[in-house]
Amino acid sequence: MCGIVGYVGKNISVKKILAKLQNLEYRGYDSAGFAYIKNNNIVCRKKVGQIVNLINATNDQEQADICICHTRWATHGKVCENNAHPQVSYNNNFAVVHNGIIENYNQIKEKIGINKFSSQTDSEVIANLMEEISGAIETRFFEMLKKISGSYAICLIERSSKKLYVAKNKSPLYISQTEDGYFVASDISCFEGNDYYSLEDGMCAIIDKDNLKFYKDSKPCKLQKTKNIYHIDDIKLSKFSHFMQKEIAETPQILFNIAKTYSKLVETIKYKNLFNNIKNVVLSGCGTAFHACLLGEEWINDTYNLNARAYIASELRYKENIIDKNTLVLLVSQSGETADTLAVMNMAKEIGAKVVAMTNIEYSTLAGGADFVLPLCAGQEIGVASTKVYSAMLAVFYILSTKNAKNTGCFNKIITFSRQISAKFDKNIIEIVQKSKRVFFIGRGYDGITAQEGALKLKEITYKDACGYYAGELKHGTIALVDENTIVFAIITNKNIAAKTLNAVEEVCSRGAKVVVLTDQNLSGNFNYIKLQTAADEKLAAIAAVLPLQSLAYEVAVKCGFNPDRPRNLAKSVTVE
Ligand code: M6R
Repeated sequence: MCGIVGYVGKNISVKKILAKLQNLEYRGYDSAGFAYIKNNNIVCRKKVGQIVNLINATNDQEQADICICHTRWATHGKVCENNAHPQVSYNNNFAVVHNGIIENYNQIKEKIGINKFSSQTDSEVIANLMEEISGAIETRFFEMLKKISGSYAICLIERSSKKLYVAKNKSPLYISQTEDGYFVASDISCFEGNDYYSLEDGMCAIIDKDNLKFYKDSKPCKLQKTKNIYHIDDIKLSKFSHFMQKEIAETPQILFNIAKTYSKLVETIKYKNLFNNIKNVVLSGCGTAFHACLLGEEWINDTYNLNARAYIASELRYKENIIDKNTLVLLVSQSGETADTLAVMNMAKEIGAKVVAMTNIEYSTLAGGADFVLPLCAGQEIGVASTKVYSAMLAVFYILSTKNAKNTGCFNKIITFSRQISAKFDKNIIEIVQKSKRVFFIGRGYDGITAQEGALKLKEITYKDACGYYAGELKHGTIALVDENTIVFAIITNKNIAAKTLNAVEEVCSRGAKVVVLTDQNLSGNFNYIKLQTAADEKLAAIAAVLPLQSLAYEVAVKCGFNPDRPRNLAKSVTVE
């Protein structure tokens, strides 16, 4: 994870450059820093915490014509200024910002001499290797890259040359030219609509204020510019207090966008041939995207004569004999940059399987590497907790698992449904959750998966001890934890098994738990109630059920005084393995 920004051009305010770095804060926010060159010396400043701490420690008059900045999500070494980036070399000649992991850093450190290192990071080896190698800076840079292995987006400066030395391998990195000069960044959100270059793996660039040169294997090469389709409005809060709140509220519009986009997409030959000559479908993703895969698995199996199975990407990548060349590998990822999901893509491509990417980011590595892309049409999702994109994933799986979608009214069903959904619930529930020691989410069938997603949302932004279970499983062990300090959310959208889930409700009530039932059925009992709107299809009911759970997590986080957009220990884009 981590976000990096590099700049070379006119003298501009350092704060202006840091404002760009703030667009990348979703990638990590435990510490931040910058380095620029002044009178042939490197000026470096770092602060623990969000970028605003660094901005507050920066003078309005401070200017730079070359600068590198970084926002960190710690991998190697605790969160402290010493481990924050930039990392400066032992002779103060070089400063580097890095996103990724240098896997052979220990060997390099030992070779150079541990006493020459002042941080616990893997990244410091990049700067120190530059000191160790002799020759022109350019040659040293190419040689240094040969010595490191792992994933990296690197931006490096040297104190006497007004150049940015840039390299990419498995971590995203883009370059754009603006009126002020060249910017390098981990995400195109920093480029204010300007077109950009997307570095390929193994590529480097050397940039001064007038020139941008690309290299592959130390030799000059060419790269085409890409059109910037980024919507800057997505990163504005407008009337909302947090991005998570804004993003939940955007769900109806996104469902509408999906219906419109897919009513055309399903007519394309590539879409129509998606399942041709396929026996097995492997679905894979991480976290919330994996929960979407679990529903996708059920829905595809219920519709087609196929064997679909969902796997957690970080598990699947080490499993042999699951994917063969007749498997359709459907990878689900909001960001399209999740390292484990990308590793599955590479594995599947090596085997010769067909790879389909369901992603929200059309310019992502996943989208670029897949044979076919199923877009999620949701706009940028900034909040670390995935909300609107989860609903988008379910809507796309709903379309995908509807045979002959065009003629079944599937798109109209989505549009009608999008106008009815609501994330509302009785606010008293927030207080009960806040006071409860433990929160369980239970359901059967599709609702069992919604339960897991509800629990993930709550724990990641409220730090509550929350778990999602299949309702029938409770009595096989977990019910031992249920007492009067427990609140149980029971999700019931399938009338055939409603009575069975209600049995579990009775069992937890008997043990003193408070219960909230989320249902679109007419049920009565001694419990609180969240009434869900009736969906024209049971699959869409999974979206109706998850929305109030997302809102619940949001409201509890705010009530507890936590920032729901920036939960501790997390980052939006998990680009490390
Ligand atoms: O970008 P991706 O969809 O690949 O991200 C996968 C997970 O890291 C992500 O869904 C994570 O679980 C969210 N924080 C959940 O809200």
